[in-house]
Amino acid sequence: MVEIRLDQLEFIGAGKHGEVYKLDEKRCVKVYRRRHYLRMELAALKRGAKASFFPQVHEWGENYIIRDYAPGIPLNHYLRAERFTPAIARQLVEMVETMRKLRFRRADTRLSHIIVDPNRKLWLIDPVNTMKPSPPYPRKLFKGLIRRGVDEEFMAYVQEHYPEVYGRWERHVRRLKERS
Ligand SMILES: Nc1ncnc2c1ncn2[C@@H]1O[C@H](COP(=O)(O)OP(=O)(O)O)[C@@H](O)[C@H]1O
Ligand SMILES: [Mg+2]
Repeated sequence: MVEIRLDQLEFIGAGKHGEVYKLDEKRCVKVYRRRHYLRMELAALKRGAKASFFPQVHEWGENYIIRDYAPGIPLNHYLRAERFTPAIARQLVEMVETMRKLRFRRADTRLSHIIVDPNRKLWLIDPVNTMKPSPPYPRKLFKGLIRRGVDEEFMAYVQEHYPEVYGRWERHVRRLKERS
């Protein structure tokens, strides 16, 4: 790899597992605090390589992964100002169902790890924890949608367009709502 001078790059964000810097308009690099996190995320990104909502991996090394930069804003912020549309609902079900079919153990994500780009395409940017155990429905996703008040709209969309998925999720979502 060409040598990367982190102090000369634009810092984008940090989380529990590492720090992310922008390389150019198309790519960013995540530098990991622990090798274990890198291995988990690399495995997830490889498993999801054919799914269009995951950033493609360009290159990786001992403590970093270079991947597609997803321009835009996190879905939790987006929904404060913008409407929840059928196009977003469709992409969310497809995201979860694609992950399930690819046998991710946790076919789920928090709203803050979904980026809405200028074409309103959704990206799932941080799949570090997607191999951890999970309930049989996207609990984190629903917690976020309930907080934003759009869970019922979403479930109405799922019921109409993905009745089989609705059948699997419905009682779990109902229980989650009763408790929240
Ligand atoms: N591919 C990406 N495109 C654009 N922004 C990103 C991308 N990956 C991460 N970020 C930004 O960097 C922040 C930290 O990255 P994240 O992968 O969540 O790190 P961690 O695993 O440590 O939580 C994210 O919240 C987001 O703002
Ligand atoms: Mg994160």
